[in-house]
Amino acid sequence: MKSVAFTAYVAPIFFSCVCLAMKVAVTGTTGRLGRQAIEILSSKGIQTRCLLRHPIDASVSPSIDGDASPSEVASFLSSLPHVTMVEGDATDIGSCRELVEGCDAVLALHGPVRPPPLQSLFRLLPETDPKHSRSVNYLAVKNLIDAAGECGCKRIIRVTGKGEEPTQVFTVLINMLGNMAKAWNYEGEQLLRASGMDYTIIRPGVMGRDDISTGRVLGLADNGLDLPVTAVSHSQIANLCVECLDYPNTSRSTLTAMNVPLGTGEDSYAPLLAKVESDTRSFPTTLLNEHKRAARIGAAMLAALVAIMSTGLAAALKAIGGLVMGVLS
Ligand SMILES: NC(=O)c1ccc[n+]([C@@H]2O[C@H](COP(=O)([O-])OP(=O)(O)OC[C@H]3O[C@@H](n4cnc5c(N)ncnc54)[C@H](OP(=O)(O)O)[C@@H]3O)[C@@H](O)[C@H]2O)c1
Repeated sequence: MKSVAFTAYVAPIFFSCVCLAMKVAVTGTTGRLGRQAIEILSSKGIQTRCLLRHPIDASVSPSIDGDASPSEVASFLSSLPHVTMVEGDATDIGSCRELVEGCDAVLALHGPVRPPPLQSLFRLLPETDPKHSRSVNYLAVKNLIDAAGECGCKRIIRVTGKGEEPTQVFTVLINMLGNMAKAWNYEGEQLLRASGMDYTIIRPGVMGRDDISTGRVLGLADNGLDLPVTAVSHSQIANLCVECLDYPNTSRSTLTAMNVPLGTGEDSYAPLLAKVESDTRSFPTTLLNEHKRAARIGAAMLAALVAIMSTGLAAALKAIGGLVMGVLS
């Protein structure tokens, strides 16, 4: 990150005024991240168009509680000021065109719905299926880039995750259990880097808990550099996504967002975002084969482990059976 430039502080004030006149498209509307980003955009008075896969059900009560269903969340969000719902699917280019029409920026916050583990392990879902990670993390990103390009929208903010080390245990596990979700997220990132768009890619830690400590814990690394993986909250990352819109210096950047030990980070993203620089290092063009090879080795090791354990179990059962027979005879 560069030293804090004067323009990096002045520009956000100017851009936050510009943002009020902005129209922003959002995918991942009902997701835990998307819903919080939409609430923030609405509270800032920003016109927000949200992609929704299912029609609003008028009989459902609006709710945004932690255990609210997607249709309850959709019903709640559709009642917020400045929010418009657009029915469609990000894997469909027509839906993406309708969503981004007239927008100045896209927050691409969608992600594949977690498949049943055995479906992914045994590769039961073909890569061409709209639910496969290739469709959601790669083709849908391509659709958004193409649709945005057609209507002159240059700004895309995309949330992915760490995935540049195909042999890391966590990455292998997610690839094995999630239809190669990490692999296709990385390929989607590469589409953005090659697109000529003003992209910001955000790689957050493990999102899920909302009881994350607050205070000076926020950390950010640009140029796709590494930070130790930690838990982060959906609300932290939702704020980060929206705040990036105020920082033109975050365009063409890859940010890793983690929490750091209390007191060593910042209590807001503003001073961190002010220092962000565009990507300069060369990212691997593709990591697909490395990811697939690592997942195959992972699956083989898992199968070997299960075989060893079941052989041991069979031997143990045989021994117990022999003992029981001995006692009974
Ligand atoms: N959770 C983590 O720890 C973590 C960490 C790093 C990165 N990420 C990434 O962050 C993003 C958001 O995470 P999250 O926790 O908010 O996920 P989430 O709660 O599972 O939400 C996923 C959202 O994507 C939508 N979606 C799925 N397929 C779609 C499609 N074809 N077209 C349009 N929308 C589609 C879902 O809509 P429906 O309601 O219609 O299914 C849902 O709104 C994902 O890209 C995820 O991979 C997550």
